[in-house]
Amino acid sequence: MRNLALALLLLVPGLAHAESPTRDVYGTSSCMGCHGMSAMGGLGPPIVRPKIEREAFVKVVRNGKGMMPATPASQLSDKDVDELYRELNAKQWKPDEIPVAFRVGGLLSTKNVALIFLGASLLSAIFIVRGINYWVGLAGFKYMRPALRRFGRFKAFGVFVRSLIVDGLLVASLWKSNKHRWFMHALMLYGMIGLALADVLIQIYNPTRADLALSDPLKILPIVSGIAVLVGVAYVMVRYKTDDYIDNGLTLGRDYLFVTLLFHTVLSGILTLVINRTTAFGWVMPIYIYHLLCVCALFVSAPFTRFQHAWIVPIMVGLNRVTDAVTASGIDIGFVREPAPGRHHKSERIALDVIRRVAPDQADDVKLRYYP
Ligand code: HEC
Repeated sequence: MRNLALALLLLVPGLAHAESPTRDVYGTSSCMGCHGMSAMGGLGPPIVRPKIEREAFVKVVRNGKGMMPATPASQLSDKDVDELYRELNAKQWKPDEIPVAFRVGGLLSTKNVALIFLGASLLSAIFIVRGINYWVGLAGFKYMRPALRRFGRFKAFGVFVRSLIVDGLLVASLWKSNKHRWFMHALMLYGMIGLALADVLIQIYNPTRADLALSDPLKILPIVSGIAVLVGVAYVMVRYKTDDYIDNGLTLGRDYLFVTLLFHTVLSGILTLVINRTTAFGWVMPIYIYHLLCVCALFVSAPFTRFQHAWIVPIMVGLNRVTDAVTASGIDIGFVREPAPGRHHKSERIALDVIRRVAPDQADDVKLRYYP
């Protein structure tokens, strides 16, 4: 083995001119952090015996590439870069030392990640549409058809869209009833919108995902959004832990699942960013892979967890607003409807009614807690 290494060393042209064959530029360079102890890869690819010419190599070092930062001459002289190229050519190719994380990471090209997410989103979309169908069916909206025709479908659609913006995007009903809960919803809702927006903007303005300064808007947006979601979710987790009345007997486990996945997603995303700026490069790829897994799990489980209420509630409230508008315009819808918005109020009303009948003298002392 030693002889082979020696033979390889002797094969490398120009080695005879090296100042000292024992000098180890690679071992003292920053390259090692990303390309591994034996240059067989880490966060970056293996660079033993680079497949590229010396000129191209120098260019990569000086200008950086993708996630790899540029290394100026003040950090690594031209002579050292030459020496580095020579050292790398003299190293042995040891496929066993390619880290697992890098091998997995190698499969995670932008195209493959996009394909995985496309698959996950499509699967999710099918069940989301099924869920919406189910709830709209339960709302009995089809009985509104004749009244809607008289009211004007276009006008009804306008009322619905307005509700999606006011009740959905601005969470106006919570704003009126409970500012504190509105704030927690806003942190998560706007945080998630910010994260999605940041992803789209990065795809457009920084497709190679080059390192940006922390002050860059493309960096600030996801960081601020991520922290907002994290704070919102952390609050919800604490509430789940400390509130004795939160278990409705039906969805608690799945609520936990959603909240926990969201927490892990955001935390691993932030960790990836932070660790990328330290020297613990070996951790970036595993955590990033964990992050992608969490996002995928979040997508796929979305139609079955509390995540659903992010679109089901706005849609149901929207349908109620349309019904309100139709009845307010004097059109007879042909049936008596429950007060909006549906089951929350109805359950509360029934419970209060029961208490008044069973224990009229205590009815005023009872405070109802209702979790949908
Ligand atoms: C922050 C981590 C990091 C550091 C530090 C780093 N690299 Fe890289 N390097 C990468 C990544 C990631 C890539 C893959 C870039 C791509 O293809 O998008 C890469 C690619 C390369 C390539 C191109 C490989 C190819 O076949 O295309 C070479 C050569 C290289 N690095 C050499 C070096 C040298 C020499 C140093 C030290 C001066 C260094 N790197 C420091 C992360 C790093």
